[in-house]
Amino acid sequence: MTLSPDEVTRLVAAARQAASKAYAPYSDFPVGAAVLADDGRVFTGANIENASYGLTQCAERTALSEAVMAGYGRHADRPLRAMAVWAARNDHGAVTPCGACRQVMAEFLSPRAEILLTDARSGEIGCRGMADLLPDAFGLAP
Ligand code: THU
Repeated sequence: MTLSPDEVTRLVAAARQAASKAYAPYSDFPVGAAVLADDGRVFTGANIENASYGLTQCAERTALSEAVMAGYGRHADRPLRAMAVWAARNDHGAVTPCGACRQVMAEFLSPRAEILLTDARSGEIGCRGMADLLPDAFGLAP
C-alpha cells in the first residue's frame, strides 16, 4: 500500500461519514465511499436508492460523480489515486464494489489506484489494486 496510515484513516473516516447520507430505505444497507485525488482532495458519496430498485446508484458512483464534476479523473489528467468503501452493516463481510461500479471506477480511477474495502465489525481494511478488481477492463488505455 502506498497510502500513508494517515491517508488511510482520513479516507476511511470520510467514507464512513458519507454513509450517514445514504438513502437506503429498501435495502437498509447504507454505504459510503470516498475518493482521494493526487492533490489531497477527497470526494464522497453514498448509495441513493429508488422505489424502482434497478435505478439505485451505489456509493462508489455517487462519489465518482462528485469528483468528475469537480474536474478530477483520468480523462481530466487530475488523477484519483484511491477509494475507500464503508458499509454500516456487514452481513456480507467486508464490502466490495459491484460489477457495474468496477467498470465505472476503471473509467475514472488510475489502474494503479488503491481500493480500501472495510469490514465495519472487525475494523479490518483490505486493499486491492483497481486492475485486480477489474482485470482486462474494457475502456481507456492505461
Ligand atoms: N451498494 C453500494 O452502494 N456499494 C457497494 O459496494 C455495495 C452495494 C448499495 C447498493 C444498494 O443500495 C445496497 O448497497 C444493497 O445492495
